[in-house]
Formats: sequence, structure tokens, C-alpha cells
Amino acid sequence: MPRHLERILCLDDFEREARRRLPRPLFGYVASVAEDGITARSSHEAFDNYAFLPRALINVSSVSTETELFGRRYAYPFGIAPMGISALTAYRGDQVLAQAASDSGIPMIVSGTSLIPMEELSGAKGSDWFQAYLPGTPEEIDALLARVEQAGFNNLVVTVDYAVPPNPENHRRAGFSSPLRPSLRLAWDGVVRPRWLFGLF
Ligand SMILES: Cc1cc2nc3c(=O)[nH]c(=O)nc-3n(C[C@H](O)[C@H](O)[C@H](O)COP(=O)(O)O)c2cc1C
Repeated sequence: MPRHLERILCLDDFEREARRRLPRPLFGYVASVAEDGITARSSHEAFDNYAFLPRALINVSSVSTETELFGRRYAYPFGIAPMGISALTAYRGDQVLAQAASDSGIPMIVSGTSLIPMEELSGAKGSDWFQAYLPGTPEEIDALLARVEQAGFNNLVVTVDYAVPPNPENHRRAGFSSPLRPSLRLAWDGVVRPRWLFGLF
């Protein structure tokens, strides 16, 4: 295990580590929440309603976390949701996620706004799930779907989004824009986070 992962003892520790490693706008893009965090808070509360029920004195010799989804067996009943522009947060980030998911036997959904061509993210060491934002005309949709199929993806996730763009207050606060706008602040953020800077470039 890489040394920096030895400091990760629970899921929240990832956030602390990411804050140290990423320039402020990128950390803000990944971690900050929209519109006062109301939806994020209620999601957390909804998950808090689930709990493990420990049972003692039963035979656990053949317990399995495996599950089947669309005809394929996965090691765990969860996967990695699509996240755009992951290659800005880590060197070839989408590929890192696809490979890690493949190694761990869980699904990873390649984002339609990945910065890496989809053909490089599919295959045995990659993912067979692709997320699309459908373009505006049937011809463009057909062309996209043909490319997705040709690239070897078996599962398509279609994202339907808001009819109007959300208020990006969280992005503005963090100084995030896509593409990232060069600024003194961003340059300084890179200088004080050399691991991110050199990893990326
Ligand atoms: C930084 C970030 C980038 C995301 N990028 C995408 C994307 O490219 N495509 C997509 O369909 N969903 C995208 N999502 C939505 C996530 O896949 C997921 O559906 C959403 O975050 C809700 O799950 P959560 O409550 O576990 O965060 C993104 C979410 C975040 C936080």
C-alpha cells in the first residue's frame, strides 16, 4: 500500500488528504456542495438510516459480498459514479479509477466529460460502463452510441440534467472554472502542491 494511503483510516480521511493535495479550485470542484449543501446533507441523513445488524453465533464460513448486475458478477454491491475531468485531479485520473475498479471487481462508470478518449478507458483493464450526455440531434446521438459500442462498452448510463444550469456558487467560491483559468492564486496553489503539479504535467 502506498504510504499516503496508510493515513486513510475511514472514508472521511480521503477528504482531508485531498484538501492537502489538490489546488483549492479543484478540491472545491470535487468536494464542495451546491446550494447550501441541503441535498448533500439529506443524502447523508438517508444513508445514516441504514445500519449493519450484527448477528452472533452463526456460520460465517461462506459469506460473500458478491452481487450480479446486468449479467455480470461484481465483488461488491457498489461502484464508482461518473465524475467529469478526473484527469485534472490526478494524472490520467479516469484511467486510475477504471483500473482500480477493474482490479477490485466493481463497476466504474466512465464520465461523458472525461478528458481521456473513451477508447483508452475500456477493455480488460478498464471499464465497460459509459455515461453519456446525449447531444441534440438523432444523428449525433447515433454517432455517439456507435462510438461507445465500438469502444467496447456494454452498459450505457444516460444522464438527464436540469433544464436550466444550476447556480454554481460552490464553484465560484472555490475559484473553479472549466477550463481552469490561469491566475496567480492557481499558480501559487500549484507551487505549494508540487506532487499534484508534477504528477499532472
Ligand atoms: C465533481 C463531480 C463530478 C461529476 N461529474 C459527473 C459526470 O461527468 N457525469 C455524471 O453523470 N454525473 C457526474 N456527477 C454526479 C455523480 O456521478 C453522482 O451521481 C452524484 O455526485 C451523486 O452521488 P453522491 O451523492 O455519491 O455524490 C459528478 C459529481 C461530482 C461531485
